[in-house]
Amino acid sequence: MDKADNAMLRENILKLKKQKEAVILAHNYQVPQIQEIADYLGDSLELARISKEVESKVIVFCGVKFMAETAKILSPQKKVLLPVLEAGCPLADMITPQQLLELKKEHPGAWVVSYVNSSAQIKALSDVCCTSSNAVKVVKNIPIDKVIFVPDKNLGWWVQTRVPDKEVIIWQGYCEAHQQFTLEDLEETKKMYPDARVLVHPECRKEILLKADFVLSTSGMLIRAAQSQAKRFIIGTEEGIIYRLKKENPNKEFYSLGKEKVCETMKKTTLVELYESLDKEIYQIELDKEVIEKAKKAIERMINYV
Ligand code: 13P
Repeated sequence: MDKADNAMLRENILKLKKQKEAVILAHNYQVPQIQEIADYLGDSLELARISKEVESKVIVFCGVKFMAETAKILSPQKKVLLPVLEAGCPLADMITPQQLLELKKEHPGAWVVSYVNSSAQIKALSDVCCTSSNAVKVVKNIPIDKVIFVPDKNLGWWVQTRVPDKEVIIWQGYCEAHQQFTLEDLEETKKMYPDARVLVHPECRKEILLKADFVLSTSGMLIRAAQSQAKRFIIGTEEGIIYRLKKENPNKEFYSLGKEKVCETMKKTTLVELYESLDKEIYQIELDKEVIEKAKKAIERMINYV
């Protein structure tokens, strides 16, 4: 698409947005054109909070399905649109409700903590949810010593190291993009930029988490980079965040930890899909009432804990 088409598309999206009283939410991993047109840009926790607070009738969620579902759970009266139906999260699909029910049976009395990167049905079976920015705090706050943590094994391991007095039973799911970062990537990038601070997402492998300077959510990285005296940063998360890091910190340098890693489903949403979504009001997130009620309790408990 050339520049003129892009500008026209942007204009039409903004017109439609006004007409339909919609708001555009986008995750930090989205492509630059989507980041630029979004009303709100953020990590999972920030976007969940915003989706609850905004007054618009329609939310268009440029991200992946579990994020749009979270918005629907928190604001069931609003129309929540996910522009691309196939924008799922392979990590969220790594545990089924049946598997979680079996795990609960094996560990009676344990509380289930589900990372937001999970389906609405998994959230509905959970005691509390967490995001990458608050998982440690959430588990610390739980009034029980035994926890079932699903579905991400790396974040689960990170939480266990930070909350050693609790037993954490960890489901072995992982993010396909973060799992690709290796120690060799880290060593090679460190050799090129020895003075750089290493900021990584807790979905990375544990050997990376152990060697990083900071383990942070995507918005945590933005805050750390802005406040730090350091000039260079090595970023261990999906490459989309680097656009925002550079834009907000023009005097600092950002490098991917090894070759850039891409979440394919995050990249499926472009201006064309966003336009179609607003125009045809597709794809609407529909969830069972009971699932919404139960999942809402788990998400709201998280919000109250942090
Ligand atoms: P954040 O909550 O840190 O933005 O992470 C979301 C995510 O899906 C990471 O893969």
